[in-house]
Amino acid sequence: MTFLMTVEDERVIKTLNDELDRKIGGFPSPSLNIVEGPNGSGKSTILQQIAWGALNRGLRVRYLTTENTVKSLLSQMESLSFMVTPFFTKGTFRIMELHTRGIVWDQNVAKYYLNVLLDFIKRDKWSQAFIIDSLSYILIKAKDDDVLDFFSTCRNLTDIVGKTFFIALHPYAVSQEMLIRIRSICDGHLMLSIREMRDRTFRILEVLKLRGANKATGIIVSFEVDPAFGIKVLPFSQAKA
Ligand SMILES: Nc1ncnc2c1ncn2[C@@H]1O[C@H](COP(=O)(O)OP(=O)(O)O)[C@@H](O)[C@H]1O
Ligand SMILES: [Mg+2]
Repeated sequence: MTFLMTVEDERVIKTLNDELDRKIGGFPSPSLNIVEGPNGSGKSTILQQIAWGALNRGLRVRYLTTENTVKSLLSQMESLSFMVTPFFTKGTFRIMELHTRGIVWDQNVAKYYLNVLLDFIKRDKWSQAFIIDSLSYILIKAKDDDVLDFFSTCRNLTDIVGKTFFIALHPYAVSQEMLIRIRSICDGHLMLSIREMRDRTFRILEVLKLRGANKATGIIVSFEVDPAFGIKVLPFSQAKA
């Protein structure tokens, strides 16, 4: 029994949030996953929770942030009780800042950034889990072919090299048609949204796709971001709007 569980655990990344793991059952690894949702819907929080799980599973994790600095990401994660500094010091957690503010985006600039990023990812023999938070700014002005090329290359690296990707994006960053194509390339597709009920705001996580997982997809989890705890799963679920 113990042996079986160990074998199973090696192929999934858990979040180490008991409620979330009980509902989702872990992310198969290697895999290519996208986390979609508007501002404030919890993309970064989920990605940080996943990074925490991956680090504790002993994986080498690279976190590319367009929103934080190394220092602010570390303190953000620690504030949510993900005590990542020891992993950072030990060297199994690496953070990369990509500053997108102030850049005037057009098709060519977007293509350039996508190529630089792809090139980096291809050469990166170090990371086992690669987290991008987020790809939105780069995607907004990019040509459809360049976007598809990016995701297809990530797909190949997942299948051939065995990397696991988690990529955040805002739904408005690409056209609806492109979203459908990107989703079909991915193994995992998480959708986040914000809901209001009376005077209460909470968030919804929908697992729209999770290829290779032993839990059924279509799982809906309501949660809050608790300042001291990170993701706090709420005891009620709500039907799709
Ligand atoms: N350390 C924290 N303490 C309390 N709330 C937080 C903390 N970090 C983020 N939040 C809240 O969690 C929500 C989701 O934030 P975030 O994960 O950054 O969303 P996104 O990345 O989709 O924009 C926001 O309302 C934000 O204010
Ligand atoms: Mg964010």
